Formats: sequence, C-alpha cells, structure tokens
Amino acid sequence: MGILFIAISSKGQDMGKPHLDRSGHKKQLIVNGEPMLLLAGELGNSASSSASFMKQSFERCRELGLNTVIANINWDQFEKTEGIFDYTLIDTMISLAEEHELKLVVLWFASYKNGTMTYAPQWVKKDQERFPRVLSAPGERISERNIPVPGMDKDSFQRQTNILSPVFEETRKADARAFTALMRRIREMDHKETVVMVQVENEAGTYSVALDHQPEALKLYRGEVPGTLMKYLNDNRGELTQVLEEAWEAQGYGMNGSWDEVFGELAVDVFMAWQVASFMEEVTAAGKAVYDIPMYYNAWIKKQGDKPGSYPTGGPIHTMLDIYRAASPSIDFLSPDIYHPAFKQYVAAYDRPGNVLFVPECRSDQNAVAKAYWTIAEKNGIGFSPFAIEQVADDFSCIDGYRALQQLAPMILDAQGTERLRGLYRQMPQNNKRISYGEWDFDTGELEEEEGTKSELVFGRWKFNVYFHAALEGIPAYGLVLQLSEDEFLITGKNIRFTFSTDDRSKQVDFVYLQQGEFTDGKWVVRRQLNGDESSHGSRLSLPVSGDTFADNNRQDIVRLKLYTLPGLLEMK
Ligand code: DGJ
Repeated sequence: MGILFIAISSKGQDMGKPHLDRSGHKKQLIVNGEPMLLLAGELGNSASSSASFMKQSFERCRELGLNTVIANINWDQFEKTEGIFDYTLIDTMISLAEEHELKLVVLWFASYKNGTMTYAPQWVKKDQERFPRVLSAPGERISERNIPVPGMDKDSFQRQTNILSPVFEETRKADARAFTALMRRIREMDHKETVVMVQVENEAGTYSVALDHQPEALKLYRGEVPGTLMKYLNDNRGELTQVLEEAWEAQGYGMNGSWDEVFGELAVDVFMAWQVASFMEEVTAAGKAVYDIPMYYNAWIKKQGDKPGSYPTGGPIHTMLDIYRAASPSIDFLSPDIYHPAFKQYVAAYDRPGNVLFVPECRSDQNAVAKAYWTIAEKNGIGFSPFAIEQVADDFSCIDGYRALQQLAPMILDAQGTERLRGLYRQMPQNNKRISYGEWDFDTGELEEEEGTKSELVFGRWKFNVYFHAALEGIPAYGLVLQLSEDEFLITGKNIRFTFSTDDRSKQVDFVYLQQGEFTDGKWVVRRQLNGDESSHGSRLSLPVSGDTFADNNRQDIVRLKLYTLPGLLEMK
C-alpha cells in the first residue's frame, strides 16, 4: 500500500497546488510553494481555438518575456457533442506552456462571454426550450428593422436574445458539468502547477437587456429578496459599496420585501447580479469540488451614467461586488477589465477588503506598462495582463517594463503591502485631453488631486520629489521605488526625475553612490557608476539615464542608490 505525502507549508496550507495567501498584510498568489507576480498577457479570443495558432502565440509570448499566458478554453469546442469532452486544446495548452516555461491562467468561455452566449455549443444554442434565452422587455432595443410586418407596434414584441437566461437550472447544470470535466482534466494533466488560476466565464451578464423578462425570472423578481442576501447585507451594513448602501438606506434598510421594495432604483441591477452570480456559483463550486485552485470572475465595467443593459446587467460591476460576495462564496476574487482611461479609479473600486487585486485585461498600448507598475507596486496587485498580447509589436511598452519587474520580483513580493514599496504613474489619456472624472460613486482618495506633473514620496526621513517628464505629451511616465534599507533604494521606470530632501531644511541630501545596473541570477551587477553628468553632478536622478549609447534606446533602467545627509548651512564662527 502506498503512502501519500502532502507537503504542508509553514502556514498550514497544501503546497501541492497554487493558492492564495491572505495572511498578514499581503494578498499573494503562491505557486510551487513561492509567491509569484503574474507578468501576464491575454491571448486574443480566437488564438487558442487551434493547436497550430496556439503554438505560434505561445512562442510569441515567450519572446515578449511574459511569465504567464492567459488563454481560453471554450465550451463550444470542448463539448461539441453533449457528454463527450474533447481534451485536445487543454492538453495542448498545458504542454505548450510547460515547453515554453510559462504559467497559465485558463479562461472558461461558456454560458457568458461579453454578456452573450456566443461560446455555447450548438446543442445548447439550438434548443431554446431546454436552455431558454433572456427575453427583453416589450419593445426594449427593438428597432423598426426587427419588426416583420410593417406598421406593427414594436412594443407588442419581446426580443429573444443571444443570451442564456441565468434562472434555469438545466443551463446551470450543463455548464457546471462541462466545467467540472475541464477542471478534472487540468488536475490530471498538470503535474507542475502550470495552471495557476482559472477565470470562470467572461464578462458575465446580459448585454443589451436590463431585466430578464422570462416569466420565471419575473416571478422571482416580484417575489421576496432571499434571506441569505439580506443576512449578508445586514452583517456588512456600513461596509457595503457606496451605491448599494445608499440605495438600501434610501429604502429604510428594509429587511424583507420585493427587490423593488428593498433596493428601489437599484433593484434591477441587484436582482440580475444575484441571479447571474448564483449561476456562476454553481459552476465554480462544481469545478472547485474536483480541483480547488484560485478562481475569479472578470467584469465589463460600468461607466458613470451607464444604465443596465449598456453594460452586461448582472455582471460583477463595482457597485455589485457585495452581491457577488453574498451569492458566490466559492469565488476567490473579482477583477475589472479596464479599457477606460480612468484606470486608477477603477483599480481603487476593486481594491477592497476581502478582494485580491488582479487586472486581467487592458488595452495593449504604450500606457499598459505604467498601469502594470501602478497595479503591482502601488496597489499590491498579484499581476497584470494586457489584452491580445500575441498581436503586439516588438516595441510594446511592457517588454522592458516586465523585464525589470521580473528582476525585482523577489524584492517586490517581499515589500508588497508595506511602506517600502511605492508605484508611480502619471495618468493621462493618450489623446492629451484630460479625463472628465465627474462624480465617482466610490472613494477615490487623493487621485483627482494628482493632475499636476509632480508627486512626492516619503520613506522615513527621506523625501523623493518626483517630476513626470513626458506625461502631458501622452508618453507614459511611471516607475517604482523600493526601499532596501533605511538609506538604500532601488528605482526603475521611465520619463521621471527625482530630487531628494528631508524635512530638516538645514540638511542637504547627497548620494553615497548612484549606480545603473541589473540583477543577474539575483545578483546586482553594476553597468555604470553615475557621479558626473549622468546624475547632474550628484543633484538628481533622471530616468532613462543619459549617455547609454550602447543600450537599446527603448530600455528601462534600474538604479540602486544610497543617500546620506550633510549640514547645508554652517554657522559662521
Ligand atoms: C473584453 C473581453 O473580455 C475580451 O474577451 C475581448 O472581447 C475584449 N473585450 C475585446 O476588446
């Protein structure tokens, strides 16, 4: 009889599979027993639909210097015939990742993809009786074009959408069965912790419809709000997301009644979020029962002023995070896909107690790198991922930025959640116009005050006066500062300048040393020591450092420096 050994870490967790460590002040992803930063990129939607295209895409990701690929397995190809699962693509994906020494985040594109059902198999699409669709309200988004008989009143029609209704058990079970088969296969095939996380569905919700008008859904909508939801809200009263708290408060914090009675103007959003999240919970719980690794849902975010249906109603938007927590206890965290220029504001909305910060999608443009630094260094995110990564050009902004993050990763992971690590990103839209921030329905802290080109970081007695060179011209200015000891720091980034001071104005600050270099196999290797022109004769640090004609123009420097103070004013004797 064999003996099964399971390695247990000092924190008492199973080390045999990826997991989240939420102990202390950190929230980190642990892979192969060590914390890991996901320097990731997400493949375009169709890139993993064939083994040959996937192969080229993985090669490209390796060239780009990522450590993780985010790629989808879709229900349509996975279960073409009901009950028969095709493992070709998931097996190929795992072996390609292993071959290229990449980790994987697997996306489960199934009942919900961008608020529609385009990735459901034909046998689901064709059987609307067994798998009913979301029905619109009479006349909702029905154009004259849709009306078969000229002159007929559009308000006497309901649209049968290309969205699966979330309230039917048969659909939930079919999706959950397939997802269970996928997770079982991953467990069987993945012996190296290659698959580090799974995203369940994609931007779930009902795009183009506010309230599902299926009779079964309307019956639930007119019924009582479930006690489990009311208990969660009551237990967390005072700590809920602002919009939800205000809507419930406006209705007198009622503990029972219909959705309209309890949530007033927010009733449709809350009801649909509860239904969609409950659907997702069944799928997630079934998958976790066979292989419990970190899982998350991603959101098509709600912009200010958007009405339900102009974003997928029922998705994990920032105002519905509590509803998701209550309806889907199996999910580990909720993530925003941020294509909107107000990046910092959406990060702030998802940076909540209990949540883990991960940005699974953003535009693959020159600002992506700056957003990665903000997410990981300033907000302690577990990772970052621009979208359609296999399509980026060779000068893509993240290539150098990720290389520096990879070198600094052990130190970043050690400092995350402490005051020893700070991220810098001067947020400006690319077209040089200011973002119209308007009124946010969550606490944005000091973000709006940051419109200038200057910033200040404080590390104990040291003040770092930061000037962002290029942001106003739309070129990203970003970086990070990592404190190694009381007077020693690592700095990386681009298009920023630093001068140094202390609160004691009678003292001047000078460099003990200022070095440009890099970490090779974890060891600091000096490329140049900067005492003269390249540090403006000891007065400041500018990134990139000037005069490095033998390096790639596009490079991102890492510098290491040590500071000391000396009296600036001496009293005359
Ligand atoms: C967000 C979705 O989650 C992705 O799958 C993709 O459709 C992008 N939008 C396209 O911009």
